[in-house]
Amino acid sequence: MTNYAVPQVAHWHGFTQMADHDSLVIKDGEGCWLTTTDGQKLFDGVSSLWCNVHGHRHAKLDAAIQDQLKRVAHVTTLGMSCQTTDDLAERLKEITPGDLGHVFFSSDGSSAVEAALKMSFQYWQQREDPKPSKTRFLALGSAYHGDTTGAVSLGGIKYFHQLFAPILFSPVRGPIPCSYRLPAEINVTPLEHYTHEIEILLKKHHEELAAVVMEPLVQGAAGMITHPRGLLHNVRELCDHYNVLLICDEVATGFGRTGKMFACENESVTPDILCIGKGLTGGYLPMAATVARPHIFDAFLAPATDSRQFFHGHTFGGNPLAAAAAIASLDLLTESSYLEDVERKGEYLRNRIIDDLVDHPHVGDIRGRCMMLGIELVADRTTRRPFPSELQVGRSVCRRTVCNGVWIRPLGDVIILMPPLIATEAELEMLATVVIESIKAETADLIEQTTPSHLTDA
Ligand SMILES: Cc1ncc(COP(=O)(O)O)c(C=O)c1O
Repeated sequence: MTNYAVPQVAHWHGFTQMADHDSLVIKDGEGCWLTTTDGQKLFDGVSSLWCNVHGHRHAKLDAAIQDQLKRVAHVTTLGMSCQTTDDLAERLKEITPGDLGHVFFSSDGSSAVEAALKMSFQYWQQREDPKPSKTRFLALGSAYHGDTTGAVSLGGIKYFHQLFAPILFSPVRGPIPCSYRLPAEINVTPLEHYTHEIEILLKKHHEELAAVVMEPLVQGAAGMITHPRGLLHNVRELCDHYNVLLICDEVATGFGRTGKMFACENESVTPDILCIGKGLTGGYLPMAATVARPHIFDAFLAPATDSRQFFHGHTFGGNPLAAAAAIASLDLLTESSYLEDVERKGEYLRNRIIDDLVDHPHVGDIRGRCMMLGIELVADRTTRRPFPSELQVGRSVCRRTVCNGVWIRPLGDVIILMPPLIATEAELEMLATVVIESIKAETADLIEQTTPSHLTDA
C-alpha cells in the first residue's frame, strides 16, 4: 500500500480521496454565492449538495432560526414535542400529495429511508390482516438511497455499494429505467419495456415484497437517470395490483426541484410512504422526514401494552431550530408564483445547455427535469462509449469551472447542475456559459493530449 505523504488533516471528508484533496474552505455565503477563505467568489451550482433552495443567508430563514433560538433550541420528540415541530408536521400534511399526513422526523435523508424500510416492514407484520412473508424490498438498478446500511442495501451503484455486500440485505433488483442506454433490440417504447420488466418482478416476488422503493422521475446520484414519463404512474398501479407498498424517496427531487413541490405530483401519484430531506429546511439544517398515509399509521395504533408502536426514533428528529427553518422555507416555496418561476428557469437552463451542446461530439446525453440536470460526457457519441475512467473527465471539467467561478461536483463523467431555485436568469446564464465553455475546452485539450485510441477504440 502506498504511503501517501499528505498533511494530517483532522477533517475526513465523505466520498473524497483525502490523499488527493484540494480543500476549498468557505468563509461565508450570500444568495447563490459562496466566498472561500482565499477570497474567491463561487457560484453554488449544486446548492451545497442539492439542498440549498433559497440561497445562503436568506433573511427570512435566518430570522426564523434566530427567533426559535430565543425560545428553545432542542427538545426530544420521544414522549414530548415542540409547538414549532407540530406546526411543521401540519404544514407537511397540507402540502404532501393525497392523504399522506403522518410525519415521522429524522435528521438526514438516509435515516428517512431507514425509517421507511422499518415502518413498511412493521406494518405488514402487525396490520389487521398480517402478511409476515412480506420482508423484502424491490429497488431499481443504480438506485441511491443514502449511506446507512439499510439504504446501502437498496443501492445499486457499483463503487458506492458493491464493496459492502457481505453486510447488506439483498433486495429484488429492478432495471435501470434509462432511456439513453436502452437494452439492445427492444421493439416497444422505453416506458412499456421498463414497466414490463418491473411487472415481471412483482408477479414473481409480490408475496415476499413489503415495498417497492424508488426515486421518482430522476435517479440523482446514478447520474440523473431520467425515467420515461409515466413510469412512476405505472409502478403505482402495479403496486396496487400486487398488494405491495410504494415508497418514494424524494430526498433529492422534493421541494421544487422538478418544478412541482414533489416529483410525484408530475404523475399524480401518492406513494404509501414518502421520504424527504435535503431541501426540507431550505438546506439550512439537518432534518428529514418519513411521511405515511393513514392505512400505514393506523396499523401502529393499539393499547400501550400491545407493543405495536413504531420501534424507531432519532435523538434530533424534529429539532425545533430545523423545524423553524423548514416552516420559513415552506412559506417561501408556497408563495404564489415561486414554483412557476422555477419551472420557467429550469426550462431556460436546459434550453441554454441544449442549444450549445446538443451536437458536441463528446456530449452523449443532456437529461433531468427542471432544476436538476445532468450532462453525460462520452468518448464516442455514436456508440455511447464512456471515457476511460482514469481520464477523470468529469472531475477535470469541474476543476475548470471552479477556476471560472462556478462550484459544481460531477458524478463520474456526468456534469451535475442543481443550482439554488432562487438563481436568477442572469446567474443561470453565467452558470451555463461557464459549464459549456469548460466542457468544450476540457474535451478539446483531452483530444490534443491523449492518444487517439483512447477516444476512438471500442
Ligand atoms: C435520493 C436520495 N436519497 C437519500 C439520500 C441520502 O440523504 P443524506 O445524505 O441526507 O443522508 C440522498 C442523498 O443524496 C439522495 O439523493
